[in-house]
Amino acid sequence: MDNQKGNKKVLEQVSGPIKEYFEKVEDGAGEFTPGEDKIRLNAPGYGAPEVLEALESLLSTWVTMGEKVYEFENQFADYLGAASGLMVNSGSSANLVALKTLRNATSEPKLEPGDEIIAPAATWSTSIAPIMDIGCMPVLVDSDSDTFNLDPEKVKDEITSDTAAVMAVHLLGNPADLHALQDICDAHNLILIEDCAEAHGASMDGQKVGTFGTYGTYSFFFAHHISTIEGGMVVSSDADRIEDAKPVRAHGWPREMDNSEEIAAEYPDFDERYLFIEPGLNVRPTEVQGAFGLHQMNRLEDYIQRRRENAERLNELLSGYSDVFRFQDEQDGGRHVYYGYPLLVRDGAPFTREQFTGYLEDQGIETRPIMGGNLAEHPAFSELRERAGDLETAQDIHERGVFFGNHHRMNQKHTSHIADVIEEFLTEVVSS
Ligand SMILES: Cc1ncc(COP(=O)(O)O)c(C=O)c1O
Repeated sequence: MDNQKGNKKVLEQVSGPIKEYFEKVEDGAGEFTPGEDKIRLNAPGYGAPEVLEALESLLSTWVTMGEKVYEFENQFADYLGAASGLMVNSGSSANLVALKTLRNATSEPKLEPGDEIIAPAATWSTSIAPIMDIGCMPVLVDSDSDTFNLDPEKVKDEITSDTAAVMAVHLLGNPADLHALQDICDAHNLILIEDCAEAHGASMDGQKVGTFGTYGTYSFFFAHHISTIEGGMVVSSDADRIEDAKPVRAHGWPREMDNSEEIAAEYPDFDERYLFIEPGLNVRPTEVQGAFGLHQMNRLEDYIQRRRENAERLNELLSGYSDVFRFQDEQDGGRHVYYGYPLLVRDGAPFTREQFTGYLEDQGIETRPIMGGNLAEHPAFSELRERAGDLETAQDIHERGVFFGNHHRMNQKHTSHIADVIEEFLTEVVSS
């Protein structure tokens, strides 16, 4: 029996029990006993199809990047309406690959060392760190107090002759003001990059985020809308941009490029397998991650829908508390996809954020700050403070921001419990 037939047989033998196991998990997934079960920030979103596909790769021993990764890239790019995508091993790597590709010798336009790149202060650390890694200067700019995303007016204030790009982030799944940011970039000849790590399927006027800028980047870490365990993707509406990024993803070699043979022919003295055309990284994903991605695609819209329904209920249930909480607004034309459910404890509320989150945590509702808050406050980025703009809203997010879970395993029972606990906190704790 050859290996392939053997693999098929083993897969057939184990697929029954694996499907049965996940059916049981799914059956219990919607159950929730208030006060007993925790409401976690995220929940596993994979099942038998992902595990069997991954197992197929493991049994075949084709475990390094291959056809499943390439197929996932195509499917994800198609879903977004992008020209193509390049899968990498994390969202952080996706940002680094996008930025480093713009430093390629032949890139047009090209980022130069010392160029300034405008980015929100209120985001995740690795939206910013890769800018420093490529020798450019992040200029931290404040957010809009309604959307918690880059404030286009404040972006304009920070543009200088050194500004080369804007890194927009769709914080917690809420699309940034892309039309305004695109206009600013067009007017000043700036490159727009979108960090969509938290915003799978978010859109503005029907166009998916990640397709507005030169590059869009995504994360498929476990906690995100869909997951490949760890993983990320760089996408672009210009297929050539993704071609340029291929050597950066893997060692600097042209092997995966469409015109690799042509390039190799230019260097006849080299063994084409070990020819390096750009200073590259190695941030390739594995085929197991590709296997997960393929089946996660079938779940994405359903998962987003569930998050949006949860958010709609929470918006309604918590609408009476706008005197003590500030909520994140969905813009006209924007489709928010809710990486969690965020709010800010208002300045002047009769309790602190820590009292509020402490109460929620005691009641089994996990909470987190809104990502890095104001990154300029963190030791890693203290050197950016001097050049940063006024960061009033980012500081508010830093001091008063909180989010709790909103994911596909949550339903009306969970959202009602959250609202009950918040009501309890406000009546019992605050009035005592
Ligand atoms: C906005 C943003 N950018 C980048 C990342 C990094 O993604 P990863 O954890 O896959 O490296 C994250 C992580 O959640 C993020 O929220």
